Amino acid sequence: MEMETFKFICTPEIVLGNGSLSSLGEKIKKFHGTRVFVVMDKTLSDVKNEVKKTLDKEKISYFIYDEIVSEPTTDSGNHAGRLAKEEKCDIVCGIGGGSSMDTAKAVSILITNDGKVEDYQGMEKVPKPGVPKIMVPTTAGTGSEVTFTAVFIREKEKTKGGINSKYLYPECAILDPGLTVSLPQGPTAFTGIDAFCHAIESYISKKSNFFTEAISEKAMELIWENLPIVYNKPGDIKARSNMLYGSFLAGIGLVNAGVTAVHSLSYPLGGLFGIAHGTGNALLLPYVLKAEISEIKNKLSKTGTKITGRKCGAESFIHELKKFEKGLKIPEKLSELSIPQNTIEQIAEGAMKIAVPLENNPRTFTKQDIIKIYQKAY
Ligand SMILES: [Fe+2]
Repeated sequence: MEMETFKFICTPEIVLGNGSLSSLGEKIKKFHGTRVFVVMDKTLSDVKNEVKKTLDKEKISYFIYDEIVSEPTTDSGNHAGRLAKEEKCDIVCGIGGGSSMDTAKAVSILITNDGKVEDYQGMEKVPKPGVPKIMVPTTAGTGSEVTFTAVFIREKEKTKGGINSKYLYPECAILDPGLTVSLPQGPTAFTGIDAFCHAIESYISKKSNFFTEAISEKAMELIWENLPIVYNKPGDIKARSNMLYGSFLAGIGLVNAGVTAVHSLSYPLGGLFGIAHGTGNALLLPYVLKAEISEIKNKLSKTGTKITGRKCGAESFIHELKKFEKGLKIPEKLSELSIPQNTIEQIAEGAMKIAVPLENNPRTFTKQDIIKIYQKAY
């Protein structure tokens, strides 16, 4: 019998439950933090008050950096890093979607290393560990509370690049579904489908194993069942909790088995045209699955049957997926996103540079294959 060996990575400390944000102060103390740099966006003013309450209660000093905009740039990451150093913070907390959490992760290593975000974009370029990081997602989501990546746009080059480092794995994740109920319908849908992409892409990845497959399957099940509920009934706390848990599990799938071609094809849409990460992934997902259907038909049929609750072949699962996305008002065509058709070749060149997810992909895609996928999706 063939042997399978693998490593398994998971955020070591997890708190899940409505109201769990109140444990933030206690967790900071546990990681010996004395002054915390909190990264969040301005729109979360109620959350900010909650944060202040828990920190005041535990007598922890803080600096709240609430200038986060979606899709952060290297400049904004560097600005936050400089401030955290000046403020002499020894622990960071990212509260929000991927933008806030990624910035917090970068700040953690910018406090202890001398360089800039740009110096560390790439694979394992960070020389020294950062300060501890606690993540509090308010979307379900990017999975940033589990991953070792922080993504920043390089404005000059119009590209997106991740800092990928073992020093970016968060030490703690606080999963409080109450923080996700005010997320508007659009972001609820596209961040939810981003999480679904993490689950299905890690499931079909060449690097998947029996352990990650079980986790990815559970994540798909939770997201498939609960995303339509939270989309139509934003205040359903049980469904919001299931989404947060599903997104977290999908993040574990991503960390341990990687994402695949959907993420490679979606990245340049963000860098070149500012398309939100989740929207690009959601739109491309059915087209990419279709292009590699012969390699993944057993897995698609198995998972399709499980999550839709009826016997489902690979083709009919992709059909169901399109219907599912339509119900969440996800755009179906790239042409709906004002992307000029004559840029497809340039987008494909960008996608080829996002090499790792393409290497994980069950089918090897050439640049021509990728152009064809964009054309079908146009
Ligand atoms: Fe993603």
